Amino acid sequence: MPTLRLGFLASHGGSNMQAIIDACKQGRLDAAPCVAISNNSESMALQRARRAGIPAYHVSAVTHPGAEEDREILRVLRRHGVDTVVLAGYMKRIGPETLGAYRGRILNIHPALLPKYGGRGMYGKRVHEAVLSAGERVTGVTVHVVDELYDHGRILAQCDVPVRERDTAEALAERVLREEHRLYPDTLRRIAAGEIVLD
Ligand code: GRF
Repeated sequence: MPTLRLGFLASHGGSNMQAIIDACKQGRLDAAPCVAISNNSESMALQRARRAGIPAYHVSAVTHPGAEEDREILRVLRRHGVDTVVLAGYMKRIGPETLGAYRGRILNIHPALLPKYGGRGMYGKRVHEAVLSAGERVTGVTVHVVDELYDHGRILAQCDVPVRERDTAEALAERVLREEHRLYPDTLRRIAAGEIVLD
């Protein structure tokens, strides 16, 4: 089984990307972090990648207008020999060229138990607020394959996070994020080990 060659797309903090990079460095995950791309030149994700010695690029609708943004992302991923694309808090929809070239091999993590609390507009604090106002006792984390629709593709892994009485969206978000940092590297490990087969 060849080592996974990972390409990250991240818009903000990049803490999930960091958890995966750390897992690779510590030998818990047989994968090579090859490149990071962000649409946000100021993102912590780009800083984290550079600090880890991973080539990091800013590609946005400003640097590459129109269909060029999608094409440039695909060019960068290919140039670095990426075989698996890892979305880690990437706030934009993946374009058709990249989606076509990497169909079935683009992963995303979502801070809830999909198909609940997913879809357009369901991101960040809003997810946890919706979970709390619905009175859920359990929420969680989902790792899934990306397709044309938001938060929609095949579910690869999920884990539960209990909702506590008098939880706030912030407290819940923090506990969910901690589980994300465990589940994302672990799902990639299972892919690398052939336990999960991507189409
Ligand atoms: C995470 O909550 C993830 O589930 C969602 O965006 C957030 C990214 O956080 N897709 P980070 O940038 O990895 O810190």
